[in-house]
Amino acid sequence: MRSRQRPALVFRAACFLVGSILFLITLGGQVTTKVAGMAVPDWPGTFGHNMLIYPWSSMTASTMVFLEHSHRLVASGVGLITLAVTIWVWLTQPAGWARRFAMGALVLVILQGILGGQRVIQVSWVLGLLHGCLAQLYLLVAGSLALVLSRFWGNPRIGDDHAAVRTRWIWILSGFVFLQTILGAFMRHDGPGFLAVPDFPKVYGEWLPAFWEGATLQKINDYRAIELQWPATTSSLILWQILHRSLGIFTAGGIFLCAFLTIRATSTPAWWRYGMVGWSFLALAQIVLGVSVIWTGRLPELATLHVLLGATLFLTGWLLGLASWRSTQLISIRSGSRTSTPFSSIMEKV
Ligand code: HEM
Repeated sequence: MRSRQRPALVFRAACFLVGSILFLITLGGQVTTKVAGMAVPDWPGTFGHNMLIYPWSSMTASTMVFLEHSHRLVASGVGLITLAVTIWVWLTQPAGWARRFAMGALVLVILQGILGGQRVIQVSWVLGLLHGCLAQLYLLVAGSLALVLSRFWGNPRIGDDHAAVRTRWIWILSGFVFLQTILGAFMRHDGPGFLAVPDFPKVYGEWLPAFWEGATLQKINDYRAIELQWPATTSSLILWQILHRSLGIFTAGGIFLCAFLTIRATSTPAWWRYGMVGWSFLALAQIVLGVSVIWTGRLPELATLHVLLGATLFLTGWLLGLASWRSTQLISIRSGSRTSTPFSSIMEKV
């Protein structure tokens, strides 16, 4: 990609945007962990005040209000950073992927703000869940923007013969990571504050109790009330957690296998090897964190870290796939058979 300006500065701005979104996701994760989403019941104002001039003394009077209000303030700041980066990209970069991703990030951050506000006004956990999942897509688009502004995108190392297969696999695995995010969001938003299953690897002391039967569920809830002093749970919440932890282990296994199979070949580029090793470590850390969340009875800091690492895992996988896809495009361009997608003729005009 050619640019009228050296991409370094605008690239750094996009990286800063990615960092600020990760910080915002962590803060949002902490709001959900502490069940503080409804601590401020109105929107766009805060207890009837203009959000931006809400008094500091009132804000710090309650931890819950502090968390939720800070989340809103930081989100507004990240929205402004997104707007600034978008304008910068549109002023300095030619038509192409950078402009599309910048515009995509701007649309998503506006949508995120509206969704967050509606979640509060309509007291809807489903909107909260959508808000959590959309945050990951926003991060992904901002990360893609940083990648297309990087030196790598302008001059990617030419891919080897297996680049297309690697791209396909890593995107499938990233799809599983995203599915994990959706399942995790269901667990946290539908049944906030308490784990549906307090042990691991077993489920209430058994490998698979019949939690879908009324009598077993009653026994589980009696145990929760008497032994744990936790509120009752439901069959669907137990199911979400069982699916989430099983799919998490399966996905991490897939990541390790993909790393093992792809980094062995001598033709594999060095950036892919480093990327896959890093991705595998992230997956391992995510599994350890997930198990620790359960074994500690849901220590808030660990739960929030698990959200942050989940977002980082998703972003890393997606970017590795995008970089690999770029190297396959270069093979096609250099051999004169540029591949096109069904919408490429429309997109090239943007
Ligand atoms: C690829 C692996 C995994 C990924 C990407 C992942 C991702 C996530 C994410 C993003 C959330 C929060 C969703 C939200 O609030 O929006 C979450 C929640 C959770 N995850 Fe995972 N996870 C993985 C594996 C695991 C494993 C293996 C376990 C347990 C053995 C686990 C246990 C949990 C628990 C208990 C929660 C809910 C925590 C709470 O209630 O605060 N996760 N996960």
